[in-house]
Amino acid sequence: MNRFHCDEEKLAKVLGIVGSLRVNSLNSAMMKVMSSLLPDWVEFETFDIGEIPYYNQDVEDSKVPGAVSELREKVKEADLVLIAAPEYNGSVSGVLKDALDWASRPNGDSSFSGKPVAVLTTVSGRNGGRAVLNHLTLIIDYLDARLIGDPVLVQLASQKFDREFNISNEETLDKLGKLAEKIVKELSTKIPKVYEVPTAF
Ligand code: FNR
Repeated sequence: MNRFHCDEEKLAKVLGIVGSLRVNSLNSAMMKVMSSLLPDWVEFETFDIGEIPYYNQDVEDSKVPGAVSELREKVKEADLVLIAAPEYNGSVSGVLKDALDWASRPNGDSSFSGKPVAVLTTVSGRNGGRAVLNHLTLIIDYLDARLIGDPVLVQLASQKFDREFNISNEETLDKLGKLAEKIVKELSTKIPKVYEVPTAF
């Protein structure tokens, strides 16, 4: 992304990826809350991974699907990727893993290489979520990406949202706020360049 040609008020881009495809996904709702905590100068966009096919190297070798090219481009353009991952049987959902596997290719040109990535997981139960965060942390390492802040875990999620999917639970807001702070700090490291005055002046 060329910062001088993007929307003048937006100084950094965050790409959200939700690992659940269902309409009433708690992770999707949590992603929305998280995005609302980011300042106005951050451009936030979610990428719908519903169109990403199963990873298949034969398909990759013949013609990369359009949705995959778009995902790779969006990840590369983003200053930070925020992943909201449900826990499926103690791990990452298949759809999310496929999307990450596609984005990690071609070999040696991972879209995630060096990319700051922040993570949150929302589960309906009282005990789950830690396993997926552990797995995701390992995957982020494999992707050659960089984990920002502590992954946020929200359990018993349906008790934390109201009917409009707003969060009023203080503890949850506090956790999300701390992650938002870490994200903003990371993005801020890129912003001063915009204001750099050429030395000739
Ligand atoms: C789950 N769920 C679940 N929860 C958990 O805490 N640990 C787990 O291992 C699993 N495993 C699991 C497998 C499968 C196939 C499903 C469909 C669900 C429950 C899960 O956390 C809950 O359904 C969340 O609401 C899913 O996230 P979204 O779709 O609401 O974002």
